[in-house]
Amino acid sequence: RKPVTLHRLREMHAAGEKIAMLTCYDASFARLLDDCGVDCLLVGDSLGMVLQGQPSTLPVSLEDAVYHTRAVARGNRSAWLVADLPFGSYEASPEQALRSSVALMQAGAQMVKLEGGGWTAETVRFLVARGIPVCAHLGLTPQSVHALGGYRVQGRDEAAAATLKRHAAELADAGAAMLVLELVPSALAAEIGAARPDLITIGIGAGPRCGGQVLVLHDMLGVTRGRLPRFVRNFMAGAASIEDAVRLYVQDVKAGRFPDPELHGY
Ligand code: KIV
Ligand code: NA
Repeated sequence: RKPVTLHRLREMHAAGEKIAMLTCYDASFARLLDDCGVDCLLVGDSLGMVLQGQPSTLPVSLEDAVYHTRAVARGNRSAWLVADLPFGSYEASPEQALRSSVALMQAGAQMVKLEGGGWTAETVRFLVARGIPVCAHLGLTPQSVHALGGYRVQGRDEAAAATLKRHAAELADAGAAMLVLELVPSALAAEIGAARPDLITIGIGAGPRCGGQVLVLHDMLGVTRGRLPRFVRNFMAGAASIEDAVRLYVQDVKAGRFPDPELHGY
């Protein structure tokens, strides 16, 4: 497969082809996911929970993110590689965000992701002007879990929905190429995507009318213990191998069969 570039992702999005993204934290899974046709790998700060056993993403350091980005980059051959800027590595100033982004890009990331709206637009503009593709992240932003009061659906009332839409437009104007929408009502995610076709929306608990989908790898492989959010589907159920499960995920995202609006939406 030819390397997935930002140009290619924009072409896919313009043509209405859904983008399949999964989180990935190591070289072995990077190689497998890439072989199975996953378009984008995200070195998410969910690695704090998934790999480190932390209660949230807050304890993840930039060094942790760099370490896992290096590993994923070594295993990956053609997928687009996005890395999360961890909590505390970009909020102080655009300059701090640039230094942290440089570390992730030098580790092999092709795009960095940061959480939040409003104040982040200036930072996004600063990074994009300096040649760093940026993915924004709105809705349930786990680095703000204590301010948000838990892992709950965002943008439910009219005022919150209006703020979300404004933040998405500001981030698109600032040059963000991609936007993860987490735990927002399906109708709101669809509206945000329709308002800005230049912004590739990637949903997680945001319904089927997004430009693409992302899940945490260990969630969709049925490895994660305990109660999972409703938007997760275990693709290992009925699959003969991890490879089959991942291929099924890619197929179902591309065909619009995942997420199911009834089962996985809000
Ligand atoms: O860290 C992560 O895994 C993420 C995705 C869930 C979008 O940010
Ligand atoms: Na994250």
